[in-house]
Amino acid sequence: MSTSYSTGAPADGQVRSVDEIGAGEVVLRTEGITKTFGAIVALRGINIEVHKGEVLGLVGDNGAGKSTFVKILTGFHRPDSGRIFLDGREVRFRSVKEARAHGIETVYQDLALIPQLPVYKNLFLNREHTSLGPVRWLSNGKMRQLARQYLDEIRVNIPDVGVDVERLSGGQRQAIAVVRATRQRAKLLLLDEPLSAMGAKEAAMIIDLVKDLSHNRHETMIIIDHNYTHLFELCDRLAVIQQGAVTFDKRVKDTSIEELTGLMVNSYREQIVAGQRERMD
Ligand SMILES: Nc1ncnc2c1ncn2[C@@H]1O[C@H](COP(=O)(O)OP(=O)(O)OP(=O)(O)O)[C@@H](O)[C@H]1O
Ligand SMILES: [Mg+2]
Repeated sequence: MSTSYSTGAPADGQVRSVDEIGAGEVVLRTEGITKTFGAIVALRGINIEVHKGEVLGLVGDNGAGKSTFVKILTGFHRPDSGRIFLDGREVRFRSVKEARAHGIETVYQDLALIPQLPVYKNLFLNREHTSLGPVRWLSNGKMRQLARQYLDEIRVNIPDVGVDVERLSGGQRQAIAVVRATRQRAKLLLLDEPLSAMGAKEAAMIIDLVKDLSHNRHETMIIIDHNYTHLFELCDRLAVIQQGAVTFDKRVKDTSIEELTGLMVNSYREQIVAGQRERMD
């Protein structure tokens, strides 16, 4: 099998995965995932594999379908068609809770924090367990103490864990969402633009955290980011989604920022030419 590579989104969404990665067991496999929102076709048949311990980067233009795909994996949206396999077994999630019960943890692009609750309560929201045992047995004082410890560990500047999240900056909120998802031992960790609201220093901290999860805990992850430098630093493999389909899927060591940039620029030019033709017809 060879790597599929094209500059336009294939009509059937077919793309072959990179053969050498087949060394590790497949944690996630999707087959022909489609999703429409009314007249908008968000996903046209996403086929993707993620192997145990692998970090897969997803790139693509705004509106290409990346977040929609993540929200399907996380049980937030249901696909119109297609299949999801976790550890080789087919799964159908009816809710985020169900996906989480299967070990899928997510940091959403549009954050799922509750603004009217303090930092420490947000950190333990919908969490069943900590390393100390079930969350329901933790006192508020213990939660505050753990929240302080978790945030200090990644050196994020949030002076008071007792303040409501609505009083925090975008980057501080992002940090809480990342800490919350990564304190849990996940089968698959989905990070949808975890660095988008971050300053340079905080982004570096999150990058270190993701590297630590990858290198020391061998977590399996999918990361969406528009910054190729971050992706090349963090990922083992990169896939491009264009207009709801995977058009590129390669190991990081077999590609380059130049190749990816070329792919994106070419497709942009093709769209302009297609638009001009349409207007002339
Ligand atoms: N809940 C929704 N209702 C209607 N349309 C939606 C909804 N969610 C996404 N879409 C549409 O689906 C398409 C894909 O959106 P999606 O959020 O998946 O893009 P994306 O690749 O994550 O983009 P970005 O890089 O800007 O985050 C877009 O055209 C978007 O407008
Ligand atoms: Mg998105």
